[in-house]
Amino acid sequence: MIVPFLDLQAHHAPLKEDILAAIGDVLDSGIFAGGPCVGKFEQEFATYCETEHALGVKSGTDALWLTMLALGIGPGDEVITVPMSFIATAEAISLTGARPVFVDVDPETYTLDPSALEGALTPRTKAIIPVHLFGQAADMGPILAFAEAHRLYVIEDAAQAHGATYQGKKAGSLGHAGCFSFYPAKNLGAIGEGGAITTDDAELVHKISALRDHGQTRKNSHSLLGWNSRMDGIQAAVLSLKLKQLDLDNAKRRHHAAQYDKAFTQVPAVIAPVNKRGDGHVYHIYAIQTPNRDGLIEFFNCRGIGYGLHYPKPIHLQEAYQHLGYKRGSLPVSEYCADHLISLPMFAGIRREQIHHVTETVADLVESRLIA
Ligand SMILES: Cc1ncc(COP(=O)(O)O)c(C=O)c1O
Repeated sequence: MIVPFLDLQAHHAPLKEDILAAIGDVLDSGIFAGGPCVGKFEQEFATYCETEHALGVKSGTDALWLTMLALGIGPGDEVITVPMSFIATAEAISLTGARPVFVDVDPETYTLDPSALEGALTPRTKAIIPVHLFGQAADMGPILAFAEAHRLYVIEDAAQAHGATYQGKKAGSLGHAGCFSFYPAKNLGAIGEGGAITTDDAELVHKISALRDHGQTRKNSHSLLGWNSRMDGIQAAVLSLKLKQLDLDNAKRRHHAAQYDKAFTQVPAVIAPVNKRGDGHVYHIYAIQTPNRDGLIEFFNCRGIGYGLHYPKPIHLQEAYQHLGYKRGSLPVSEYCADHLISLPMFAGIRREQIHHVTETVADLVESRLIA
């Protein structure tokens, strides 16, 4: 049996006619960059995230970068974040000219460990970017309290957490701003690239609106230097469609995660994800810890099972960040995760027997004594 890591064809198949009709409408309107479809999606997404505003941009990386630029973050500033993320989180900080300062993650949730913040604070610190990794919100209570005490911005990296909640509040509505990616593999994915910023701050909206459109505040009036990060009308139209089924898809993911969890209670050599957010976890990724990841990969390859590694090298050890001076051992929990986590097939449409095939394969590896 083949179990892909992700099956986007199957995901889109039942939506195909609606998607093609939505693309047809955009084609007929003749408005492709920004325009009414983008405005409509922005309103819908703001309502969904329980924020006053949402702004569509070209990608999640742009969402983070433009938010920081609009908040005045730049050279000489420091932004605290985690190395256990996709590199874009840190890259966006570096693109502003500021310096990323990495703190380690909690060993259970793999999200920013609030107790590490004090040690990373300097007079140059301007913001904290917690990452809601794998669909689970970071521990925002203590992070927001720390930020308030030290007058720091909190920018949520919610690229993996569409629909996730923390104590009943939506990801993207907790900090000063939330940054989302609509990369196709995300829980809410475009059929190309896309991103959004959610916020209640009208001034921030005004600045990002200009920054994403070459610094224009009025036609042909460029009050500052910006960039082209307008959301594509076709992506917005498709995202509006797919937003309608996001909650159902997330509920399916939670159901699949519960199936995996149940099977792994019989396999003590495997550490299943720890869910501290109940129904607020949206399982973008379901990653387990195993002492013999290479052995499991061999088994998966032989049995037609896809997998992912998120992320095999933490950001502070990437070549691009060697100039910051971090060494192996600087952030041990993130490094341990990089060496031991493997992401199992997870998508709304995965079938029960496919999950069974994955869990049986993991159990067989244990039985073969390749992992203790
Ligand atoms: C945690 C995280 N932050 C930021 C990004 C960047 O988003 P994009 O690929 O849309 O630029 C991603 C996307 O993979 C991500 O997973």
